[in-house]
Amino acid sequence: MLLTGDSFTGTSITYDRYQELKSFDESKSGVKGLVDAGITKVPRIFIRPPEEVAAGNYISDEHTNTHFIVPVVDLENMESRQTEAVDGILRAAEEVGFFQVVNHGMNNRVLEEMLAAARGFHEMPGEVKEKYYTRELMRKVKYGSNFDLYESKYANWRDTLFCVMGPEPLDPEELPLVCRDTIMEYSKQVYKLGTVLFELLSEALGLKANHLKELDCAKGHALLSHYYPACPEPELTMGTTKHSDPDFLTILLQDHIGGLQIFHQNRWIDVPHVDGALVVNIGDLLQLISNDKFKSVEHRVLANRIGPRVSIACFFTPHLYPSTRMYGPIKELLSDENPPIYGEITVKDFIAYYDSKGLDGNSALTHFKLQR
Ligand code: OGA
Ligand code: NI
Repeated sequence: MLLTGDSFTGTSITYDRYQELKSFDESKSGVKGLVDAGITKVPRIFIRPPEEVAAGNYISDEHTNTHFIVPVVDLENMESRQTEAVDGILRAAEEVGFFQVVNHGMNNRVLEEMLAAARGFHEMPGEVKEKYYTRELMRKVKYGSNFDLYESKYANWRDTLFCVMGPEPLDPEELPLVCRDTIMEYSKQVYKLGTVLFELLSEALGLKANHLKELDCAKGHALLSHYYPACPEPELTMGTTKHSDPDFLTILLQDHIGGLQIFHQNRWIDVPHVDGALVVNIGDLLQLISNDKFKSVEHRVLANRIGPRVSIACFFTPHLYPSTRMYGPIKELLSDENPPIYGEITVKDFIAYYDSKGLDGNSALTHFKLQR
């Protein structure tokens, strides 16, 4: 990565940064390791210019949208209330791209246990965790910090345990013991909820209930257990850079700390913790196949003096599973008035592009738009 401008200064800045990234990476102990070592200042690989942290908070007029609330969809008694649920999901998916679901059928105990198990993993001694630390692309269970460490401009204040759960079943033995049973149980339940959501989303698109499932949208899911340590100088950095998700759909469980925000109508809106709820958002691939009917919305996580914050994201995507299936806008949705916006791509190509770009604040979808 070469910086533009004065080449001498540029090169020396790049060199120092690279060395610092490398020593952070080689510590294999993530952001949690820095905090445990007692740092009181945020190291410079994490520091952003102030306008990058505040950006967007005050873009629009203070009087607009201050009362905007992320929609909540109630999935109780689905048999008798299906139309209402489909309607709620349709509006949320096309207007906001984010919603919370309640009465979703996953029991509270599993949600609480999953948050505790993720925390349990990240709070194990460094010597135990480092065995899982890797940047190997194909590893199914990996712990790390900043998947785009060497590509992005600023590192994020976050560590992640990444587990590919399907379509090939994961051998539980590959999971760290401290979270093994809980991840297996959570994975099973969240997958089931995902299939219900794909049915509702299919109907919201005006398609038959199993359409998205038949496109293999639920073929493959990964669980990302994120850990955002308390940050001594949260105004200098970010928990997660603004991005949209590289999948069909994400189901997110967050604890009560807060910090998740979505970019809606030109300003950042908080996604508050709602007891027992799960946050659902449309991913880039669903925006692509819905030909922009559904929105894959940008979101970010603020760093916080209080912590840790724990969240579990379930990404519905075949990820690197070797599928040659091509994805483009769904034919049934196209017409003369609604011509295709995107070309056809494989998930693998999409992921390769998304990862090579890193989280840079720009949507990966733009790259796949057809030239007009
Ligand atoms: C993600 C994400 C939000 C959070 O994993 O893509 O946006 O609250 N996570 O951790
Ligand atoms: Ni995300």
